[in-house]
Amino acid sequence: MSDKLNKAREYEEKKEKMIAPEMRPLFHLTPRIGWMNDPNGFSIYKGEYHLFYQYYPYETVWGPMHWGHAVSKDLITWKYLPAAIAPDSEYDQNGCFSGSAIELEDGKQLLVYTGVQKTEDENGNIRDVQTQCVAIGDGRDYEKYENNPVIDSTMLPEGAGKYDFRDPKIWRENGKYYIVVGNKTEDEDGQILQYVSVDGIHWSYDKTLIKNNHRFGVMWECPDYFEHDGKHILLTSPQDMLPEELEFHNGNGTLCIIGSIDENGDFCEENCQAVDYGIDFYAPQTIKTADGRRIMIGWMQNWDTCGIKRNDFPWFGQMSIPREISIRDNKLIQWPAREIENYYGKRISRQNVLISDSVSLSSIEGRCVDMTVKVRSTQPELSYKKFEIRFADNGKAYSTIEYDPVDNIVKIDRKHSGSRRAIVHQRRCKVAGNKGEISLRLVLDRYSCELFINNGEQAMSMVILTDVRAEGISFKAAGELLMDVTMYELERK
Ligand code: FRU
Repeated sequence: MSDKLNKAREYEEKKEKMIAPEMRPLFHLTPRIGWMNDPNGFSIYKGEYHLFYQYYPYETVWGPMHWGHAVSKDLITWKYLPAAIAPDSEYDQNGCFSGSAIELEDGKQLLVYTGVQKTEDENGNIRDVQTQCVAIGDGRDYEKYENNPVIDSTMLPEGAGKYDFRDPKIWRENGKYYIVVGNKTEDEDGQILQYVSVDGIHWSYDKTLIKNNHRFGVMWECPDYFEHDGKHILLTSPQDMLPEELEFHNGNGTLCIIGSIDENGDFCEENCQAVDYGIDFYAPQTIKTADGRRIMIGWMQNWDTCGIKRNDFPWFGQMSIPREISIRDNKLIQWPAREIENYYGKRISRQNVLISDSVSLSSIEGRCVDMTVKVRSTQPELSYKKFEIRFADNGKAYSTIEYDPVDNIVKIDRKHSGSRRAIVHQRRCKVAGNKGEISLRLVLDRYSCELFINNGEQAMSMVILTDVRAEGISFKAAGELLMDVTMYELERK
């Protein structure tokens, strides 16, 4: 093992003790210590779920990237394993960037990642060149391949840039391995390149899966490509997007491109939408479970909003709740992985509550809850103009979800949550209108809120760092409406 990896492993083992369990979310994965960004290597290996992550153990800021590592039997309770790889070789001296994992035919686990190397360009400027590298291991310890990188700049198609070429996502199909890799062309546009291999180690360029054609942002990061519900789906996270109505916000965003394969075997786009309409979600990866579900997990943070930070926490960054995804009417549906139901504690339910002002209901409170709220008008015409759920409330700080049934807009808002940083604190999303009827499932953990609208037609995620004792939940209407609420307390068993 290299000195760098050894140092990281010793450091994390010693320092994780600084973090009492209550200082972390109840069931969202955080870094063992220090900084976390993208999920990496989300996969199943020897009967367990493996999740690696972009990791800098030494500080709560981004630094030379390592891969952290955790395993789980049920996607909800994670156990840390030692850091998997460190930037300890010439070809990855400036970082082991995002990538993926798969079980090889001989039972070993293959990690495919991007190596970042400092190089001098033709004008004498120092720039980072990105190549694809592999490491092979047993689910805990990994050995980098002696002939890394396995895909270098000589294997790029014409016009592809060598400085932004990263985040390989691997899968196996018809006896071969494939990866998709994000790339920025020399004329500054995003595209996804596909490579093929017989053994996961020797690769050749296959094709360009899709080109951005200057539609969404510039560089397309973290692609994931798979078949599900009879469709081919590409997830990718473009940098520097321009806003488009309430569908795409500006900055770093996430895209779900749904399509089919045409007679030439090419991917044909049929629909493109945002993956998550909230504030904090980026770079998702998926797996297929043994029972055929497609589960997606994302970094519940965004590069544009990393300013939301607790200086008293020795960790930064968390993963979203794992989400079952499906395609209905060519649209993405997301729903918390059903395994969360095994963590349900007390159930509290109130039906047909008339709301005409602001109310709290006895026992409806808490900071770790899974709550579904359904509201409707009290008469055939729209009987209210606004509905609000206020949560993580201690009288001083609080966050809200607001539904406007006139314009059919849902807004999440954390501007009063205690963070005064000059970053995005609210976001809106257009939802299907149904005469004031809407269903809102809110999954609250200590430091986050994930909202699933109308049975998963839209998801909105945001981090909230309000003192964890702020447990108040209340409801408010402008006009009058009827509400059903069912809440489960979430607890570790
Ligand atoms: C996405 C990303 C990836 C890169 C990694 C670096 O969030 O920028 O493209 O591999 O983070 O940490």
